[in-house]
Amino acid sequence: MAIERIVNPDTTDPAESADEQVLGETLRPRTFDSYIGQKLLKQNLGLAIDAAKVRAEPVDHILLYGPPGLGKTTMAGVIAHELGSNLRITSGPAIERAGDLASLLTNLADGDVLFVDEIHRLPKTVEEVLYPAMEDFGLDVMLGKGPSAKSIRLDLPKFTIIGATTRAGALSAPLRDRFGHVHRLEFYSPDEMIQIIERAAGILDTKLDREAASEIATRSRLTPRIANRLLKRVRDYAQVHQVDTITRKDARAALHLLEIDEVGLDNSDRRLLSAIIEHYNGGPVGLTTLAAICSEETTTIEDVYEPYLMQIGLLERTSRGRKVTPKAYAHLGLTPPTSTAQLPLQ
Ligand code: ADE
Repeated sequence: MAIERIVNPDTTDPAESADEQVLGETLRPRTFDSYIGQKLLKQNLGLAIDAAKVRAEPVDHILLYGPPGLGKTTMAGVIAHELGSNLRITSGPAIERAGDLASLLTNLADGDVLFVDEIHRLPKTVEEVLYPAMEDFGLDVMLGKGPSAKSIRLDLPKFTIIGATTRAGALSAPLRDRFGHVHRLEFYSPDEMIQIIERAAGILDTKLDREAASEIATRSRLTPRIANRLLKRVRDYAQVHQVDTITRKDARAALHLLEIDEVGLDNSDRRLLSAIIEHYNGGPVGLTTLAAICSEETTTIEDVYEPYLMQIGLLERTSRGRKVTPKAYAHLGLTPPTSTAQLPLQ
């Protein structure tokens, strides 16, 4: 079991989820206007919502995919709010049987939004019940058993599903095809990260200058969930050190204590890069081998570590496995090996 990391964009900590619930009203934006970044996504969804409102119809089902922590759940809340609808939240692994889904769906009202997190983890038997529900708002129920059994179709309320996944490729084609809107959430720009941190600091009643916000931003892996978490740790530091307005120096000192470096890597990231360098001369190395040397699940390497390491150009995925880049060597203060490849003889 891997140690919980402060830069892990996944929410596995129930205390943090509870914290978000308490702060939910405030820290999580509720409208498109207060949601910073993802401009194109907001434009597309805004258009779909306006059109659906004019037609007095539900919005087509929406699939949001991308690395954890970029705001898929938050965006689902915003969509429901902009539609003036209720949001029901569940997840793929929580719906174990077809009956669980049937009871969820029959309890919805017209216009409701059902958010299904980790939708790629829905059991196959449940998925099959979901198809007619998504397509025709119908639920097929078997009455009786054996030769006299018959199937009847119940009408469901006109709802919208928002599915979220870190791995769009793991969704079956028939399920993916039933979403009218399929959108990827992108990493945020450094400037957007600064705005998100300044907004959160305002809500948390914490004073910090632009340089401090920028320092937290550069160490937050372009991910708002991590930024909010680091901001809270910097706020703790400032409180204990009786700092009134947090400066870059305070932010640096607090983040140094957490062993998060200037580009947001923690010990686990550095260990992963060093392992490829030390054991495999920089790579390529296969995913399963890499997971074994890092004592991590392959899915954790793929979903949590890799997206950001690739985004900032420290790691590459090749057909033969994972490879570190010369930039990774430089970041770790190492010299890349000189190529030993022989030029072909003329
Ligand atoms: N908090 C987390 N994500 C956010 C976003 N995209 N905009 C504003 N505040 C946020």
